[in-house]
Amino acid sequence: MRLRLGIIGGGQLGRYLCAAARELGIVTVVMTDEAEPPAAATADRVIHGGLGDLAAARTLVEAVDVVTFEIEAVGADVLDLLADADARGRVAVRPGAGILATLRNKATQKRWLVDAGLPTAPFRAFNDASVRLTAADLDGFAMPVVQKSQVGGYDGRGVHIVHGLADLDEQLPGPCLLEAFVPHVGEFAILVARGVDGDIRCYDPVALRFEPRRHVLDEVRVPAGLSEAEVATCRALAVRCMERLGGVGVFALELFLTPHGEIVINEISPRVHNAGHLTLEACATSQFEQHVRAVAGLPLGPVALQAPAVMRNLLWRGPPAPAVPVPVRLAGSTAHIYWYDKSEGRPWRKMGHLTACGPTVEVAGREAEAGCAAVLAFTDGACG
Ligand SMILES: Nc1ncnc2c1ncn2[C@@H]1O[C@H](COP(=O)(O)OP(=O)(O)OP(=O)(O)O)[C@@H](O)[C@H]1O
Ligand SMILES: [Mg+2]
Repeated sequence: MRLRLGIIGGGQLGRYLCAAARELGIVTVVMTDEAEPPAAATADRVIHGGLGDLAAARTLVEAVDVVTFEIEAVGADVLDLLADADARGRVAVRPGAGILATLRNKATQKRWLVDAGLPTAPFRAFNDASVRLTAADLDGFAMPVVQKSQVGGYDGRGVHIVHGLADLDEQLPGPCLLEAFVPHVGEFAILVARGVDGDIRCYDPVALRFEPRRHVLDEVRVPAGLSEAEVATCRALAVRCMERLGGVGVFALELFLTPHGEIVINEISPRVHNAGHLTLEACATSQFEQHVRAVAGLPLGPVALQAPAVMRNLLWRGPPAPAVPVPVRLAGSTAHIYWYDKSEGRPWRKMGHLTACGPTVEVAGREAEAGCAAVLAFTDGACG
């Protein structure tokens, strides 16, 4: 019988996980509460239920052999249910529910990093749901300091940079943490996969560029322009994380490079990541295939870089409005366009991405830029 893979979350990451699974002959069941989830196009079945929906999670567990995640903000009760089903041998949860429980919350994740002796910015957690930070809470932090929501933040939406007391007027609600701002000359990410057999493989690190006001990821490039020593440090950190976590699947480490040449971990995602989209074109095995291979218990595929590549997120620029699908190629660019079929555009929403390869990363960057211009023209300036 074909292996049945359950995926919690139905966004674009799920969409390409399902596509990769299909190529491997694996049946997919996605659990999501979105009415029109991007993953619906490629999944074999969709179970409707939110990330904390116990009844939907029970249905999922009955329907599949392996459960994995494309989002980490899963409800604690659902994680308990999955842990129990795993312990009973009903399903294999990969990566484990315990790993998700630790990493899904930025406070427990940071505590884990500190306990593991891994380099990360100093922080203080505020666990009270009704917390309002005051001047006293900033004691011991130099300005600026970063306030982050403990759970549920994404694409910079759970991040608030505090430059001074006045910025506390507009703080994020709910449990949060304060984190020292890490002065950096660049942001990077490294994807790492670990198989059921313990085999660990690191992709080449990638360079990240963020939209400066929104902290939303805008561009990813590989090679990242790091020195050999810096690349070696990124790999060593990724391997240490995976060995200590014992996770199975693809994980992503987001990293800062400081002006002194140190690499500091921003966060770890126990899943495929926006920073790895360009592996679809640029690497021997895409992050999506790799994750499916890992959680399905297959041997990992090769991760070698095949060509320099640049990925650009296609972000909605205009006011909320219905979105028209953008085709996979547009005149004037060699970029491969991935459109997620989200029916509504909202400010800064990721509507798709595109990737261009080239003989050099500079050429790939120009092709990606031309691709964005073509998408902007196609959408009358709404997206690009
Ligand atoms: N301590 C810090 N020092 C400097 N910049 C930071 C710090 N923390 C976050 N940032 C900036 O904000 C961005 C988003 O932060 P973070 O990755 O924690 O949030 P997120 O909402 O999980 O984002 P995403 O979903 O894009 O990964 C970072 O990539 C970085 O540009
Ligand atoms: Mg991040």
